[in-house]
Amino acid sequence: MASVMLTGGAGYIGSHTAVELIESGHQVVIVDNFSNSSPVVLERLQQIVGAGIVCERGDIRNADFLTEVFQRHRVDAVIHFAALKAVGESCEQPLNYFENNISGTITLLQVMQQQRVNGLVFSSSATVYGQPESCPIREDAALGITNPYGRTKLVMEQLINDICTAHPQFKAAILRYFNPVGAHVSGLIGEDPGGIPNNLMPFICQVAVGTRPQLNVFGNDYPTPDGTGVRDYIHVVDLARAHVAALDYLLREGQNITVNLGTGCGVSVLELVQAFEQASGRSVPVNIAPRRPGDIAECYADPALANRLLGWQAEYDVKRMCVDAWRWQSQNPEGFEPSR
Ligand code: NAD
Ligand code: WQD
Repeated sequence: MASVMLTGGAGYIGSHTAVELIESGHQVVIVDNFSNSSPVVLERLQQIVGAGIVCERGDIRNADFLTEVFQRHRVDAVIHFAALKAVGESCEQPLNYFENNISGTITLLQVMQQQRVNGLVFSSSATVYGQPESCPIREDAALGITNPYGRTKLVMEQLINDICTAHPQFKAAILRYFNPVGAHVSGLIGEDPGGIPNNLMPFICQVAVGTRPQLNVFGNDYPTPDGTGVRDYIHVVDLARAHVAALDYLLREGQNITVNLGTGCGVSVLELVQAFEQASGRSVPVNIAPRRPGDIAECYADPALANRLLGWQAEYDVKRMCVDAWRWQSQNPEGFEPSR
């Protein structure tokens, strides 16, 4: 069993992955600066797994801090979640995104090299496909950029691939997530965006719980069956389990991989709203609004490569995603901390 550093492990996907890793027998060291998460998540993780959680508070851009963490703890591999991820904000503050995401990754890779840690699982995104030519999207589809956040993901993928080429002992699994939603079945951890949510599911949750009056549906004139945008929503617990499978694959096979993590099913905005209303018993009023700049009509994965290489496939359907998201939201109407 491995000892794994999770950068950004207090965040939405990292915290769910911590649970799945620990429940699979791995040890976890969370490294987070809490710039987009709450320390309360550590107490919740402890409640779920029934054991103390190792966490080092600090910034991945600080090489001295990272070096100390590697020296204090055994680390066999790193799962690198830490990043800023808001597309709109990245258009307003591109330098912050380049600095945090790209410089942070370079510092992490340098310290990993110094410490001779040679396994990396990296959080990439379907955003690297830009405007896809067709769906479902395979990993060999053309790549493109539609915003600075996406550029950071593409650059980081390229940096990691260059390092794999230069240093064959260094192995990486690049995971391209589609649209993660849902929450742990306990309702103790889930997605907690500070302020107004950018993404669809947390916005729907806040409408259902009464924090916001209605959902703006960004466009109903797309060339999709009901005119609204189509995405590949994937339950965060399925996604977390894919990280365990990717880590096991890296440690077992020692092969570099880049894989899509999605269900392969396209779901429209209105279909997700309807599924959520059924799951929660709450109504989610919608207002048809103009298209959001930069949005694409449809985006869903061909997950066959991950299915084949990792022996993993998404198990939870949209209904379950909504049930679990609603449990989290209704038990924690203001997220982890009311003030955030
Ligand atoms: P999140 O914001 O909930 O988690 C990221 C964590 O990283 C936060 O806890 C934050 O405090 C921490 N962090 C950020 N910069 C840091 C730094 N410099 N040093 C230390 N900690 C830092 O985001 P998430 O949804 O869990 O996303 C995790 C990863 O997955 C990110 O890399 C994101 O780009 C990627 N991703 C997310 C989605 C999504 O829709 N949620 C989709 C595709 C890819
Ligand atoms: C989904 C659909 C919207 C909000 C983003 C990033 C991507 C990745 C995942 C990190 C679209 C519609 C949304 C709302 C709406 N993140 N929508 N009203 O845009 O597919 O992907 O998150 O890597 O990089 O771009 O996700 O949840 O924002 O939108 O109608 O209030 O919901 O137009 O069709 P998206 P999303």
